[in-house]
Amino acid sequence: MEAWPRPAAPEGTSVMALTARDVTIHFGGVVAVNGMDLDVSPGEIVGLIGPNGAGKTTFVNCICGTYRPNTGTVLWQGQELLGLSPPALLRLGVARTFQNVASLHDLSVLDIAKLGASMRSDRGPAGHLLDLFRSERAVEQELTETVLRPLELTDVVHQPIQTLSYGRRKAVDLARALAAHPQLLLLDEPVAGLTSHEGMAMAAVIRDVRDRLGCAVIMVEHKMDVVMSTCDRIAVMAAGSKIFEGLAAEVQADAEVRRVYLGEP
Ligand SMILES: Nc1ncnc2c1ncn2[C@@H]1O[C@H](COP(=O)(O)OP(=O)(O)OP(=O)(O)O)[C@@H](O)[C@H]1O
Ligand SMILES: [Mg+2]
Repeated sequence: MEAWPRPAAPEGTSVMALTARDVTIHFGGVVAVNGMDLDVSPGEIVGLIGPNGAGKTTFVNCICGTYRPNTGTVLWQGQELLGLSPPALLRLGVARTFQNVASLHDLSVLDIAKLGASMRSDRGPAGHLLDLFRSERAVEQELTETVLRPLELTDVVHQPIQTLSYGRRKAVDLARALAAHPQLLLLDEPVAGLTSHEGMAMAAVIRDVRDRLGCAVIMVEHKMDVVMSTCDRIAVMAAGSKIFEGLAAEVQADAEVRRVYLGEP
């Protein structure tokens, strides 16, 4: 079984994996993200929390090129990400999952995982050429062991994803992102809508992937038990801006966070 490689940082890059500065975007009169700063180091899971409409998804969309912010910079290992296409981002090791997973197509779970694997950022042209000579079976076995089994998807590998439950479709979406061996993983509500067993399994996989790949992770999530047990650091957004950042215990103890997000007087 091929080990999951831990890619070395390119020469001359800073230790900081992601540096977002002063990211601002408005839609008409709505300032969805306002002067947002965030740093994420390799191997770190940063939680992004805040009330509905706080700007969390929009901020993630700015990092991964879906939206072009009006101002700001997003540097990944020293390189500007803003304006890059999803394939270009994947080549740099940036992968994401979606808050609402699509269920329209009839690709199988394995097809989706293979699609992700075909985008592996750590293979290079020679590696992708070598993949052509690997047997389908070897590729499938590797995906099964590294991605599908941990996500409890082995019993549905050949099923079209539209036949799966919402929770399992979320797991498939994560499988696609993980199969690309990301160095920066952006997760938008990975456990929303999942049963608590599915949610805990998903959180364990996210931590395990971080340990194995050493990747940086941003996890937008409302489920506080998962956030508190999974994230090394938590940033809190409200009305487009970061209102607090700290360790889980510090976030829970902050009066402003408790008022704005946790609904306390
Ligand atoms: N494409 C868009 N056009 C207009 N307004 C938008 C667009 N995308 C987001 N917004 C607005 O930006 C604000 C932030 O929305 P966003 O979806 O980023 O919030 P969120 O923190 O992810 O919320 P939730 O927790 O409900 O997912 C909201 O007021 C939303 O209506
Ligand atoms: Mg959102």
